[in-house]
Amino acid sequence: MNYHNMSINNKGHLEIGGCDLVDLASEYGTPLYVLDEELVVDRAEQYLQALKGLPEYEIAYASKAFISLGMAKLIANLGLCIDVASGGELYIVLKAGFPAERIYFHGNNKSIEELKQALNANVGRIVVDNLYELELLSKLATESNRTANILIRLTPGIDAYTHTYIRTGQLDSKFGISLAHDQAFEAVKLAVQLRNIELKGVHCHIGSQIFDVSSYPVAVDLMMRFISKVKKEGIELRELNLGGGLGIRYIPNDQPVSIGDFGELLTKSLMQAAQKYNIKIPKIIVEPGRSIVGEAGTTLYRIGAIKEIKGGRTYAAVDGGMTDNIRVALYQARYHGAAANKAASENEKLYTIVGKSCESSDILISDIYLPKLEAGDILAVFVTGAYNYSMANNYNAIPRSPVVIAYKGQSELLIERETYQDLIRLHKIPARWCKNEF
Ligand code: LLP
Repeated sequence: MNYHNMSINNKGHLEIGGCDLVDLASEYGTPLYVLDEELVVDRAEQYLQALKGLPEYEIAYASKAFISLGMAKLIANLGLCIDVASGGELYIVLKAGFPAERIYFHGNNKSIEELKQALNANVGRIVVDNLYELELLSKLATESNRTANILIRLTPGIDAYTHTYIRTGQLDSKFGISLAHDQAFEAVKLAVQLRNIELKGVHCHIGSQIFDVSSYPVAVDLMMRFISKVKKEGIELRELNLGGGLGIRYIPNDQPVSIGDFGELLTKSLMQAAQKYNIKIPKIIVEPGRSIVGEAGTTLYRIGAIKEIKGGRTYAAVDGGMTDNIRVALYQARYHGAAANKAASENEKLYTIVGKSCESSDILISDIYLPKLEAGDILAVFVTGAYNYSMANNYNAIPRSPVVIAYKGQSELLIERETYQDLIRLHKIPARWCKNEF
């Protein structure tokens, strides 16, 4: 089994980070997210290396892919910056002690409370999405006698080739200010005039799970052209944040671009654009989420009911599904997996792996060859590190699954399993109803 960092031990079980997945399933229960620490660290280090050719750069991990107190601590220790996109994500990373100056605060509709939270915490950069936010932020910063260091998010008008729901850079988008029709230039001029606003640079993000990286040089060119145009008016933009988006290998046939090649492509296109527009390369920030944490994650499930439909499919149901991985139902995402306790056996039978939620779209893998399954087998679904836990939900009042980190044969909880008590923690019953008054 040559799937990311996985190996098979002498019991014929799958192993991650030196931990037997069958043992992890019995110790922590299923469903269970397992994160391979070494793989996360490796991907982060690859990014830090990939942009070495640039004069100045930062890697900001996009916390929306997966965040917890522990994850924030690991990212901080690795020397990365972090991208947060809500007051909740900001709260978590601050609680973990993440250095505020290394935080980029995103969001297309930040509330007054969230902006105040960011100002009070003194976050490194607030990435302003629109003109309403720009004026509001200036007002709030002035009132609290603080300076907001900002980037302005621009929409370069590029269609990255990915699923429509995770495309963001096209002109008709809810994110950012359009680069076309001078709106972006107007925003920059306004930012420079507004009180207590310090404009540091611009940002763009063209999409996610991108395999065809040819859109990036186009984005680089458009953003650098804009920076040069603004410079002619006497405004210097010293920082350019190019967002995230690099694709990863979910199924065996996927062929993503490596982090190293991606870094080279960005470096080359920045050098070309700098020459073409006769400007210096600004400080570059990239914001990968999926490509840092995605491949490091594996979800373990226990097989329950197996249903063979005469002349049709054989369904094998697992004890989780769309509550821990909504990506299949939402984006028609595809996953691959293996029977963790029968990893050395031949994949002889075709299965459809379904979840336990009351929803026909709760299918995890439509067609997969596996060894003959029985109830109690452990199914490992690969590449679930990004946008799985962070998009987990409690449909059918199913508690969210725990996350463990595997490292050199040791495992440790990052997030505990939710309990039934957790499910009702916020529930109230109006007193009248308890007295049978309606
Ligand atoms: N920066 C910004 C401003 C973003 O909006 C995003 C992702 C990222 C960085 C990180 O992108 P990544 O490197 O992870 O592709 N839930 C969807 C993905 C939504 C991505 C939203 N923005 C999914 O499960 O595929």
